[in-house]
Amino acid sequence: MEKQAIVMSGIRPTGFLHLGNYFGAVRNYVRMQSEYTCYFMVADLHALTTHPDTSELKKNVSRVLAENIACGLNPDKAAFYCQSHVPETSELYLYLNMLAYKGELEKTPTFKDKVRLQPDNVNAGLLTYPVLQAADILLHRATLVPVGKDQEQHLEMSRNFANRFNHRYGEIFPEPHAFNYGDELIKVPSLDGAGKMSKSENQYATLYLSDEDELIRKKVMKAKTDSGPTTPNSEKPDYIANLFLLMELVSAPDVTKKFEDDFNNCTIRYGDMKKQLAEDMVAFIAPVREKAEAIRNDEKYLKEIMEKGAAKARASAQVTMALVKEAIGLNYY
Ligand code: TRP
Repeated sequence: MEKQAIVMSGIRPTGFLHLGNYFGAVRNYVRMQSEYTCYFMVADLHALTTHPDTSELKKNVSRVLAENIACGLNPDKAAFYCQSHVPETSELYLYLNMLAYKGELEKTPTFKDKVRLQPDNVNAGLLTYPVLQAADILLHRATLVPVGKDQEQHLEMSRNFANRFNHRYGEIFPEPHAFNYGDELIKVPSLDGAGKMSKSENQYATLYLSDEDELIRKKVMKAKTDSGPTTPNSEKPDYIANLFLLMELVSAPDVTKKFEDDFNNCTIRYGDMKKQLAEDMVAFIAPVREKAEAIRNDEKYLKEIMEKGAAKARASAQVTMALVKEAIGLNYY
């Protein structure tokens, strides 16, 4: 049987999972786990580069695990693990650091952004963030990396480090590339009509999978509308088009079509549309929220899946590290 392609991705344990993460990333992981050999990792070491205060770390890691599993990520299919539980990651990171140049790291856009954001903590871990990420990926000799556009530069650096290693010590690493279903990643628009749902910006414009029903309704009802179109079949303003996009994600097709028709013949009542959207959002989010809550409170289960994930990841890591050490020439006896 042909060996399955290997998928690897990392999730930072900072912030709450929102609808944009779900449709942009998690839903794809869930599909991939049945088609590929998958490694999904909670990037707790990466988090230390920007969040030195670890008082919330355990809570955040538990939340990420619970929320992703509640969305359908299956720890029996994929290896779902914490970065710090696989010490081979740090070992490979060390070797790759000798192949990464200060100049290229300093000009990485994400590094420059973080220097601007935390001028008092420009630590070396921040500088070598892309090296650690390359270690995550190359550790499993993964070729498929489901990530968004913002990670493309990091992936290119991973390819460079892989190629440099191969060139200097011998062919071990395949090139990793960004991988997603379809050409375009689904963008989930924010509720204020500006940009997409995101972790940091306007909290009221983003729907989190942990939001309570009332809060979901409030956020949806606050979304900007106007008095409606006055000419049939007119073009939708952005903020209205966004409401329709959100509706397409969670509402039944005939429901969306009814409001489309109402819009086109100028009889649409946005209040009704938002009420419908709010109820469909609640129906979508509530079961995920409840499932995540139950998992988050089940320490025994969380411990079990973390151990299972780490065991699978380490088994794969140890095969790679044996090859790496031999290639470098660290196998003296
Ligand atoms: N840097 C990624 C982010 O900010 C997280 C990440 C860490 C990652 N290691 C990875 C992504 C390995 C893909 C592969 O979202």
